[in-house]
Amino acid sequence: MKHIFKEGTNKDKNVLLLLHGTGGNEEGLLQLAEIVDPEASVLSVRGNVLENGMPRFFKRLAEGVFDEEDLIFRTNELNEFLDEAAEKYKFERDNMVAIGYSNGANIAASLLFHFQDALKGAILHHPMVPRRDIELPNLSGKQVFIAAGTNDPICPQEEAIELQQLLEKAKADVELYWENNGHQLTRSEVEQAHEWYKNII
Ligand code: MLT
Repeated sequence: MKHIFKEGTNKDKNVLLLLHGTGGNEEGLLQLAEIVDPEASVLSVRGNVLENGMPRFFKRLAEGVFDEEDLIFRTNELNEFLDEAAEKYKFERDNMVAIGYSNGANIAASLLFHFQDALKGAILHHPMVPRRDIELPNLSGKQVFIAAGTNDPICPQEEAIELQQLLEKAKADVELYWENNGHQLTRSEVEQAHEWYKNII
């Protein structure tokens, strides 16, 4: 997958996995990693799917309606890519914390839903529930921060709450943070993610 890897100044830190929203790319979220943990290594990946020229991490049938078969295929593909990247760049595969926005948050949530060990933790900005009616792996010990907007028309409040419940049922530790805002990624929610990260991970 197309990506950027930036080695951090402190190799004992987590590796931050950046996953952009629809129409973004591997450059777009680099600033988030700078705020969350400026010393950490960063792996920023571009989604392999194109929707009218806009990169995404998996296909959708309509706004908010996911192509489940493609979501599963792409989740496996991303997980395999992470295994390969860990070998190539020589970082601890177990130390990966995702930071995703919108479509990128959804594939990060899908990694958690399908694999026990894909991620150590995740910061999910404006996520949705990736799949329903499946059994999640035991996510005990996984740390998740969700930032959601009270007026988000794309990722409504109920989705964020349901996602928190599903992850907690699978034993993950989840903090849900509300922004009085819509779908946009705000500086204040990124700073909030940084505060959470400092104390938790
Ligand atoms: C998705 O398709 O993943 C969500 O609707 C968010 C987005 O618009 O990317």
